[in-house]
Amino acid sequence: MKKRNPELLPIRIYGDKTLQKKAEPVTQITNEIKDFIDDLVFTMYEKDGVGLAAPQVGKSLRIFVVDPLWYNEEGEKNPVVMINPEFIEFENQTEFEEGCLSLPEIYEKVVRAEKVVIKGLNEKGEEANYKADGLFARALQHEYDHLDGILFIDKISKLKRIFLKKKLNELSKTTDANGVNLRR
Ligand code: NI
Repeated sequence: MKKRNPELLPIRIYGDKTLQKKAEPVTQITNEIKDFIDDLVFTMYEKDGVGLAAPQVGKSLRIFVVDPLWYNEEGEKNPVVMINPEFIEFENQTEFEEGCLSLPEIYEKVVRAEKVVIKGLNEKGEEANYKADGLFARALQHEYDHLDGILFIDKISKLKRIFLKKKLNELSKTTDANGVNLRR
């Protein structure tokens, strides 16, 4: 059988309804889900993302992909796929600047755990556990939040959000009547 070429998925932008929703667990890793994961990985690399969560492409499922190191490892790609992930441990706290493909041109410092342990399923349905720190730990927490309808700007101070209000209103302006915001 000929291998299917992955597709570039359009990214949903701030204001989009799916970005604000709690995503549903995956009950079965069907071929359709596997194809979707291939597309999600492909789109993450095409868009130079550190990670990408299913709600960011309009699919309200508990799936995300991350690869925090590929751009400083001479393009070596090692995507981590997480299906129905759960954190088991959080350790210490640290602050670092974040961005998000769904919030173009917005960067803010966010406090998160410095180290985490996460478990979930990989694309083959096998149990996958990771002990992470640094950018990997941060990316896991950022992407996990997308599955609960949380964006990094929800984690910054009220005052900082007030300063971002104009930019955010500008971004959400292109949301259509169905709650879809592709801003193209
Ligand atoms: Ni994001």
